Amino acid sequence: MAYLLGIDIGTSGTKTALFDEAGKKLASYTGEYPMYQPQNGWAEQDPADWWEATVAGIRAVTASIDVSQIAGIGLSGQMHGLVMLDAAGNVLRRSIIWCDQRTAAQCDEITERVGADRLMEITKSPALTGFTASKILWVRENEPEIYEKCKTILLPKDYIRFMLTGEIATEVSDASGMQLLDIAKRQWSDEVLEKLDIDRSLLGRVYESPDITGRVTRSAAELTGLMAGTPVVGGGGDNAASAVGCGVVCGGKAFTTIGTSGVVFAHSPTVTGDPAGRIHSFCAAVPGEWHVMGVVQSAGLSLRWFRDNFCAAEEAEAQKRGIGSYRVMDEYAAKVPVGSNRLIYLPYLMGERTPHLDPFARGVFFGLSAVHTRHDMLRAVMEGVTFALRDSLTIFNEANVTVDSMMACGGGASSPLWRQMLADVFNCTVLTAESNEGGALGAALLAAAGTGIYGSVGEACDAVIRIKEHCDPIPENVKKYEELYSIYTNLYSKIKADCAALAAISL
Ligand code: XUL
Repeated sequence: MAYLLGIDIGTSGTKTALFDEAGKKLASYTGEYPMYQPQNGWAEQDPADWWEATVAGIRAVTASIDVSQIAGIGLSGQMHGLVMLDAAGNVLRRSIIWCDQRTAAQCDEITERVGADRLMEITKSPALTGFTASKILWVRENEPEIYEKCKTILLPKDYIRFMLTGEIATEVSDASGMQLLDIAKRQWSDEVLEKLDIDRSLLGRVYESPDITGRVTRSAAELTGLMAGTPVVGGGGDNAASAVGCGVVCGGKAFTTIGTSGVVFAHSPTVTGDPAGRIHSFCAAVPGEWHVMGVVQSAGLSLRWFRDNFCAAEEAEAQKRGIGSYRVMDEYAAKVPVGSNRLIYLPYLMGERTPHLDPFARGVFFGLSAVHTRHDMLRAVMEGVTFALRDSLTIFNEANVTVDSMMACGGGASSPLWRQMLADVFNCTVLTAESNEGGALGAALLAAAGTGIYGSVGEACDAVIRIKEHCDPIPENVKKYEELYSIYTNLYSKIKADCAALAAISL
């Protein structure tokens, strides 16, 4: 029996999971690390932390197995983060990650240099602060001495590939979020690179997600305990890999995930999307196919922020009862009625992507009154994130993207309360899979497909993914949420200009 290793370099931590070839999880380890926010709207991480968590994870999950039986390794990870290396392969600065919002001026510059229409045609997106290209320009303009020394640009999971194999490479699904890829052709766009004056030699070779991109080097083998020569496949951006991990690999299938960000994702056999770019059109981890997805910047992040700042009592209770703090928070939120006693939360803590594409948007509690308690606010946070996810579905409908089945995965899917909220707010049945390993399982299945254990990504999913639960909408809740959602959707346009004005004040 062969083993598969899936490594998911997330924002709150790196999860390393060992599976057998039937996709059964045998061991898993998560190493956490900080996100630095040197200024309001900035977000950075240290690539050394990702690597340290990866090494610890590999050592932990392989401690009691024969590592020569590991058939392949798949990587998944937070998208868009900018990692810059010098000629010797040393990291030049902390990574500016996906939720950083400092690059509004560079986005204007990208639009001007490439032209709004061409940018949309090639990259299927308007210039976005979250994407890597604007981060590259920001470093070039603000830290020219670092840009000067930069010889290699990588995405977070591709930095881990480099540390494991010495190869400078990426794959289509993650490369799609750099704003430098021709999405339809699945290769770097010379036109965009030329117009932005970014040297192509800075970028790695682009593979399809199941392709073998390199093998574990002797020095990485010594550090991790792996066998030198173990193949590492392309893998996928966290959402594309999660899609594989819950079987969303053909038209009509969709999933919602609530991790640090929240995503609504639908597979598509052809390139499609929204002309305004409010949802992303990216290459899928299935060779030759695509997906669309809407992104809520602060989904799990909103809940984590609320926990860290307001839920000391729940954390203490969780510790006493020996359970997770989110479980205790769920229990209290479940006691609050639908609609949080007329309190609505806008989850724009780090700006918002879908549907507003606005780095200056900020969070709001609307309707706050003297009756409200912390627990009303807690439930409102969960409901507000769910309304924000529904915005993506609305755009999918407008773009004629078919959704026949909706899965839930990621941290949020393990909360029965949140699953019911999704079903009620989306007004559709929400399915969960037996395994909720998401990106790590998807990455491992890509390794299984790439090393020939299965003939294709679809075949690997058919063999491994099983549905565990159905959660149906409750008609009474659907009706109430419908009314609340119509107020929710009206709120942002009324404060948009004030959010920008607030950001412009020098304090
Ligand atoms: C996707 C996105 C996030 C990150 C972090 O476009 O920015 O989902 O991948 O999870």
